[in-house]
Amino acid sequence: MNIKQIFKNNENWVHSKLNHDADYFNNLSKGQNPDILYIGCSDSRVSAEELMGVAPGEVFIHRNIANMVPNTDLSAMSVIDYAVLHLKVNHVIICGHYYCGGVKAAMESKDLGILNPWLRNIRDVYRMHREELNSILDEDLRYNRLVELNVQEQCINLIKTAEVQRAFRDRGLTVHGWVFDIHSGKLIDLKINFSEILENVMEIYHLD
Ligand code: CO
Repeated sequence: MNIKQIFKNNENWVHSKLNHDADYFNNLSKGQNPDILYIGCSDSRVSAEELMGVAPGEVFIHRNIANMVPNTDLSAMSVIDYAVLHLKVNHVIICGHYYCGGVKAAMESKDLGILNPWLRNIRDVYRMHREELNSILDEDLRYNRLVELNVQEQCINLIKTAEVQRAFRDRGLTVHGWVFDIHSGKLIDLKINFSEILENVMEIYHLD
């Protein structure tokens, strides 16, 4: 990768945006008002804006290894707090992807140093769904299913936060679980039943 080329690309991009709309950056600088918070994987192949076809200013984005929402992760928690409480987004998306290296690593027995505590969150998802996962004999299908179940569990982690519970009650905020299939380029809605899960877990996680 030629780093100098990136600056040339940027110049071309600025020119093409200004050709189209002379006030483009002027308007962008006035502030943001996104309706969506997207939490996805850092994987270089899963480019959030591009795969959704959205423009700058439309989606608030957080990415980490395997699209996790650990409740002690200050970065993820701050992003959720800011997006839900201050930007007042109405949709929160957890977007996983098939062929996720983080999920794959969590399925293997290997000491990965500082990654161990991070991947342990995915191992916990495996443990919670061990029966279903172990019944899938095809390893690729089991891997895909863990990607999906991980998305589902991260949606539940979102629902455990006071901000999301309150925003659901006050303005009907919705949590969505998606998977991006790198092999086909398609975005798949896991159709996670947000209100049903919410009702189900609120007995334990209800905060206000
Ligand atoms: Co990934």
